[in-house]
Amino acid sequence: MHDIAIAREESALFRPETYTAVRRPLLESSTLPPQCYTSPEFYKREVQTIFMQVWNFIGRDDRIPNAGDYFTIEFAGVPVIVVRGSDGDIRAFANTCRHRGSLLAQGEGNCRAFRCSYHSWTYDVDGALIAAPQMDQTKGFDPAEWHLTAIRLERWAGFMFLNFDSQARPLMQYLGDLPDKLDSYRFQDMVCVRRKEYDLACNWKIYVENAMEAYHISTVHRSTLSRQKGKPSEAQPADGQYCALFKEHKGSRALLEGDTGFPEMDHLRDLAAQGSWYPLLYPSTMFGCTYDCMWWLELHPMGPEKTKLIVGSSFPRATTERADFEEVVKRYYKRWDISIPEDNGISELQQRGLASPFAKPGRLSHAEPLVHTFGNWVLDHVLGVTG
Ligand code: FES
Ligand SMILES: [Fe+2]
Repeated sequence: MHDIAIAREESALFRPETYTAVRRPLLESSTLPPQCYTSPEFYKREVQTIFMQVWNFIGRDDRIPNAGDYFTIEFAGVPVIVVRGSDGDIRAFANTCRHRGSLLAQGEGNCRAFRCSYHSWTYDVDGALIAAPQMDQTKGFDPAEWHLTAIRLERWAGFMFLNFDSQARPLMQYLGDLPDKLDSYRFQDMVCVRRKEYDLACNWKIYVENAMEAYHISTVHRSTLSRQKGKPSEAQPADGQYCALFKEHKGSRALLEGDTGFPEMDHLRDLAAQGSWYPLLYPSTMFGCTYDCMWWLELHPMGPEKTKLIVGSSFPRATTERADFEEVVKRYYKRWDISIPEDNGISELQQRGLASPFAKPGRLSHAEPLVHTFGNWVLDHVLGVTG
């Protein structure tokens, strides 16, 4: 009996009728059902229909400045090597040996070649097989045909993105008009000065939703961010695979109230000169772009109830070259090191509550428009209604 009930529930997970209330306009809508945040089946479908098909953000290219610099990641269950080649270009490869499939590289560092720790097949940093001991008697074996499997990697303004789908449209088409809107920040002239990782016990969507609404600021960030003044944030029109909040205000959003920091960029234009942009680059990366710097929240889905969060902080190169940089940047780190754990904590509490068998869909406030937009974007993919 119990098994049949579970099977019924699983099949309902992918029926459009299950989501009628989520599909309504914001003020008439319901939230995604709790199962969307806990079910292994739903998560599996998200990996297939979202993460295996879209441009996934993986940080900045100044993480690997020199030829042979590399790092490894496991993105949505796929092990990947990202390496700067001998020609200075950055490439991504499936991190699996072409012999019998062992994981080839681990961690990060600099190397001239990747040598498999199993039988010593060796690949150069451009992915070509350059040594394969005792393969000389193997018939029809041509090392030139045993290149590491390339994964698409494209860059915008120093940011790197991976795509597991060889048919996907180019990154710049995917991002649409976002690069234009954020152009005056000159991200290409910024330097990433800190990267911090957190392992979270929550579904990736919980964290995205938290980042895309300011409704929680007066409670979760009661004694920190809630002291910052400014107009309410507003959802912006978006022509591309993103949605965005903009908040009009004065002063850096990357500092706590009362702290002073670096000079503001003098090249900001349009909205960027009047406040801060908070775009969500679908599916799982949020930028914070303010007067003097940018930071990002990069989520790697690790399972239905597990997510890796990477927080990166970037400043204009001229700022990082100031004599007082190391001293003053501590005030920015303090802001992130306080506010981010506040969001981490509430996200994990939400996950625990949603896992209750008594949890049910809720309703949304006018202050959560992008929670609604994002939930529907996820459904478009999972239910297969994207063009
Ligand atoms: S599995 Fe890599 S050399 Fe054998
Ligand atoms: Fe928050």
